[in-house]
Amino acid sequence: MTLSDIQLDRRGNLKHFLTIEGLSRELLTEILDQTEGFLGVAEQAVKKVPLCRGKIVANLFFETSTRTRTTFELAAKRLSADVLNLNIDTSATAKGETLLDTLRNLEAMHVDMFVVRHAVSGAAHFIAEHANPHISIINAGDGRHSHPTQGMLDMFTIRRHKGDFTDLCVVVVGDILHSRVARSQLLALNTLGAGEVRVIAPRTLIPTHMETLGVRVFHDLREGVRDADVIVMLRLQRERMRGAMLPSEHEYFQLFGLTEERLSTAKPDAIVMHPGPINRGVEMASQVADGRRSVILEQVSNGIAVRMAVMSMCIGTQNLHAQEETRG
Ligand code: CP
Repeated sequence: MTLSDIQLDRRGNLKHFLTIEGLSRELLTEILDQTEGFLGVAEQAVKKVPLCRGKIVANLFFETSTRTRTTFELAAKRLSADVLNLNIDTSATAKGETLLDTLRNLEAMHVDMFVVRHAVSGAAHFIAEHANPHISIINAGDGRHSHPTQGMLDMFTIRRHKGDFTDLCVVVVGDILHSRVARSQLLALNTLGAGEVRVIAPRTLIPTHMETLGVRVFHDLREGVRDADVIVMLRLQRERMRGAMLPSEHEYFQLFGLTEERLSTAKPDAIVMHPGPINRGVEMASQVADGRRSVILEQVSNGIAVRMAVMSMCIGTQNLHAQEETRG
């Protein structure tokens, strides 16, 4: 069974959200359109809608997170779901319980959705294969593989600023090799029909097959950002590097760090993005991170609405199946 087979039901409705791979342009556009509708919830006096009332969402974060975990929690609460945040350090996992046993115990509590972050690529897919079929799984980042809601919140932010993807030049800069965010972004950009996609990185931080993904590869930042509409900076994932892949952070910044001066070759209205956490003075200068072209904090706010869209679509699919089962 392919990844896209497992995350869609037989009518093509979203049941799990594990990866952007295999999803159609129509489905990605539906997620973006639904997100537009959820943005306004943050402006309401009572920041809630009842779409997931009575549902239980369990956040299972086996790896550190600030933005993703908290925005998933807020998204679930804004949809009126009850939220369980499992503290992995103090849970039975720390006492040796297997992932499947933890899963079975949470299933016994009638959880409706697991939001999973794990250091191992494929972990969310594994859980989707083994969980009770009534439960939806959302991948909140698995190893180097995929971070689909981050990919979609980045697409949403780009669409808000630039409209249609067709004529855009989008540049992704940094540690492409270890980045699940980059993988999700590149898949989404290709599916949504972005005009030109470039990646810029040192030779040691770029996978060998990159050109086959329809992207142009650059090793020179100044050249790569020329005339770009969107520049996405990535964090150096030191925790995933084995051995010396880079001389030093200082030298990396000298060659690949985004400064105001290097940004001057991009289009005058270019936007600068970063999924966070930022390493100031490594990936970008503070002037750029806090500058007028930066939409980094907007990405975080948009993340809540995107996660509301994805969660409500999956719960909507569950409700549809439950109604069909009741009707027999
Ligand atoms: N962008 C992102 O995944 O950030 P966190 O690791 O803080 O969740």
